[in-house]
Amino acid sequence: MANTEPYDTFRWVPVHEHGQDEDGYLLVLDQREIPHQVSYVRLVDYREVAEAIRDMVVRGAPAIGAVAAYGYVLGIKSGEPEDQVYHTLYASRPTAVNLQWSLDALRQLQTTNWRRLLWKANELVASERLMNNKIAAYGAEEILKRWKQRHHEGCKDETLRVLHHCNTGSLATAGGGTALGVIRKLAALHGKVHVHVNETRPRLQGARLTCWELRQWGIPYELSVDAAAPFLMAQGRIQFVTVGADRIAADGAVANKIGTLMIAIAAQHYGIPFYVCAPCSTIDLKTPTGAAMIIEERSATEVLNPSGKSSDQWLAPVDTPVYNPAFDITPPELITGGIVTELGILRVRDQAGAGIGLAEQLQQ
Ligand code: MRU
Repeated sequence: MANTEPYDTFRWVPVHEHGQDEDGYLLVLDQREIPHQVSYVRLVDYREVAEAIRDMVVRGAPAIGAVAAYGYVLGIKSGEPEDQVYHTLYASRPTAVNLQWSLDALRQLQTTNWRRLLWKANELVASERLMNNKIAAYGAEEILKRWKQRHHEGCKDETLRVLHHCNTGSLATAGGGTALGVIRKLAALHGKVHVHVNETRPRLQGARLTCWELRQWGIPYELSVDAAAPFLMAQGRIQFVTVGADRIAADGAVANKIGTLMIAIAAQHYGIPFYVCAPCSTIDLKTPTGAAMIIEERSATEVLNPSGKSSDQWLAPVDTPVYNPAFDITPPELITGGIVTELGILRVRDQAGAGIGLAEQLQQ
């Protein structure tokens, strides 16, 4: 099933003429085809980039941000009006704040020199890689410390057991991943790590993408339907939860893939630490609370006919009305572990349970 070749989630391909970059295009791994095949889509126009983000050829908040940056380069390089390029890409998916963040980083340069913009896009990607490494190191250190404490207090299980939702690996980022990067680091440090993968209906990022990545990395995993998560906790199969984020409000509320809230509620009930792993670019201090976040609604077809194939594969009568929010919002009081960033672990509650804003922690 799995291809074990190294893969790039996306890659800018320069076209050289007369010894300098005369042109370039973007290659994006088509995540809709994983795990069945590894194929790349060639994007030469910023509108194609926006379309690829909308169609989830590429997905995952940090990867969307990085790819949008190259989309901006393509748009400016072809002489399109800056406003049109910016807004077309900006509107491609509304919840992941990294998209806006990276477009703003390029826009702020106020230049139509595409080579300068390309340099900036490359720089964003390079720093994202470093941030992923730091998130992995901080998260693994924290979780391992807590796991050792548990062990010290009498837990005999030698295996560290983590539940993960959606996909937050290399496919979702420009580097080694956020929550999955932490898990990968834990496996490197501790050896015995077991991942419970939620399938993540309706797009099945957990089943299709996370299982594919974990298999490539040689980390043991087991797949369950999303609704099984609370019962796995009740059975004592889960010691920690790690998830990513698409946007984090100033009060610590987290927008992430639909199903995250259900896991967080169950984790609190069973006293299981719940960690959100994300770069600081996912923290949106302009959004005060979760209530102010825009939650993307996607098509009914995603739910009714996930295979996208013939009508005999529809899961319900064809015209069944559907409400399909792509994300949910987990309130800060359920982020019981903390938010793992490249700057360290941010806590959203103090010892007495009072809220701690993220702005003050980021300023320190
Ligand atoms: O709809 P998607 O697949 O783009 O949603 C992705 C998620 O919700 C991820 O968990 C989140 O973006 C974090 S990715 C490091």
